[in-house]
Amino acid sequence: MSAIGVIGGSGLYNIEGLTLKRKKAVRTPFGRPSDHYTIAELRGREIIFLPRHGSDHSIPPHMINYRANIYGFKRLGVERIISISAVGGIKKGLRPGDIVLLDQIIDMTRTRRSTFYDGRQGVVHIDFTEPYCPEMRRVILEAGRKAGVRIKNGGTYVAVEGPRLETAAEIKAFGMLGADVVGMTGMPETSLARELEICIAGISVVANYAAGISKKKLTTTEVMEVMSATTERLKRLLSGVLESIPPERHCPCKEALKDARI
Ligand code: HPA
Repeated sequence: MSAIGVIGGSGLYNIEGLTLKRKKAVRTPFGRPSDHYTIAELRGREIIFLPRHGSDHSIPPHMINYRANIYGFKRLGVERIISISAVGGIKKGLRPGDIVLLDQIIDMTRTRRSTFYDGRQGVVHIDFTEPYCPEMRRVILEAGRKAGVRIKNGGTYVAVEGPRLETAAEIKAFGMLGADVVGMTGMPETSLARELEICIAGISVVANYAAGISKKKLTTTEVMEVMSATTERLKRLLSGVLESIPPERHCPCKEALKDARI
């Protein structure tokens, strides 16, 4: 069975039963990933962690080398990635601390290197109708149910450039477009995984009400506090997910490049 990748903060490394094995620095044709990869084992399964912003949280969202991060996972034999992120809540009813299992994306990023196929490797158009792996989504929902961790099933993530937060009018517009949550890192991370036929699931934690949704000033301090208060629940969920991912894949992601090339 292939390794499972986890992108998220290092607060997740001390899951019960998880043994940390080694750290691995990976070089890629696209440059350096955000940090070394931490290779661990959970009941016989290899789990590989990468902190998206670096272990000291020094890389802002628009400066992350998304291509290197995803390519590095591929190099290490990862076929499935669980991507954990903080988001602002747009949709009515979403509150800080809520966990959302994403199912759609609207990409509003502008300046990022967003493909592995810039012509040299041929012209490739991957199908991205369903950006997240349906099989992983099912496993995550079931694991949440078993672990007693409440998950909002489905959510549209609007990816923005950052690093500034949004204006109230932007959030109002994103809401009218159908976005439920807003974040700065979901793209091109998700489509790059698809380009390498890696399954990816997006688990987002609502860290704050998005701009203009509440009258309060938005602060990074609040975002960090909510994220650390959610760590225990996330770890419980992740532990269940990692145990129940089936050894073989039964999803379209694994054949994303079939008939995608000109
Ligand atoms: N906007 C964009 N990205 C975010 C937010 C937000 O309100 N909260 C956490 N990441």
